[in-house]
Amino acid sequence: MIERDEALRAVEGSLDRPSAARIYDYFIGGSTNWAIDRAFAEKVRARLPLMGDYCLTSRQFLGRAVRQCVRAGVHQFVDIGSGLPTAGNVHEVADQERPQQDVHVLYIDNEPIALAHSQILLDDTADPERHEAIAADLLQPEELWDRVMDSGVIDVRRPIALIVNAVLHFIKDDQDPDGLLEYYRHRLAPGSLLVLSQMTNENPVDDDERQALADLLEYYESTTNPGVLRTMAEFERFFGGWPLLKPGLVYAPAWHPDKATVFAKAPSESRVIGGVARKPSL
Ligand SMILES: C[S@@+](CC[C@H](N)C(=O)[O-])C[C@H]1O[C@@H](n2cnc3c(N)ncnc32)[C@H](O)[C@@H]1O
Repeated sequence: MIERDEALRAVEGSLDRPSAARIYDYFIGGSTNWAIDRAFAEKVRARLPLMGDYCLTSRQFLGRAVRQCVRAGVHQFVDIGSGLPTAGNVHEVADQERPQQDVHVLYIDNEPIALAHSQILLDDTADPERHEAIAADLLQPEELWDRVMDSGVIDVRRPIALIVNAVLHFIKDDQDPDGLLEYYRHRLAPGSLLVLSQMTNENPVDDDERQALADLLEYYESTTNPGVLRTMAEFERFFGGWPLLKPGLVYAPAWHPDKATVFAKAPSESRVIGGVARKPSL
């Protein structure tokens, strides 16, 4: 556990570049972002006016997916790239869906600021027996999984909902996302669920949108997290052929939409794809 002073020092030391976690926080209406992040976000919005709604789409998909995982009987969550705490954090959604207070959640991020804020939130609101936030890097799978096992919050012999939501667009193909996902899928017990979403460049409406999405990637090169967009076909492989829960891999707003879902009437305008798959029994 890092101390508040250390957390604040981590924040101060990170203000030379916009941070993907804080930009996203700004877009979804959070309050943990700085001038450098907001200026970057507004530059993106000038090129992609609906970027804020794409981020909100990702966050809303996360909440609906967590609810469905709880309903499907999985009560442990490992949330890799959990980001900054904001409305609808996984432990809050899960505890609301299952008031028995027996859902366990481990938040993981490699960004010190996200971790610091998660720990502050958990200090204030969570149950230390069931909820924890740790630092680890998706790109260092053995180390990350050791920390999951050492956390004392997650029993890796039982099904887990592994969430990698709005993170894989920060993992380029030369960083071996296939090998990473294969490693994590292999570690999960049968019956586990894999929740994945990312931003897509599937089927842009016209050349201007195609170029705007290319510009987005170029802008993100100057942040802490350069990115990559993927089509549905390029993204589906990360589920490793596991059967997808209904309705499959879709534009995120088409995945169990509710009253609040943005783009519910036109999911393909959202630029976010997502799905949930279940690990079959051996
Ligand atoms: C766009 S935010 C998504 C936050 C949250 N998952 C959600 O859906 O609301 C992406 C997060 O992924 C984190 N991230 C990016 N690369 C990572 C890596 N290699 N390991 C762990 N976290 C990473 C960033 O620090 C950031 O907090």
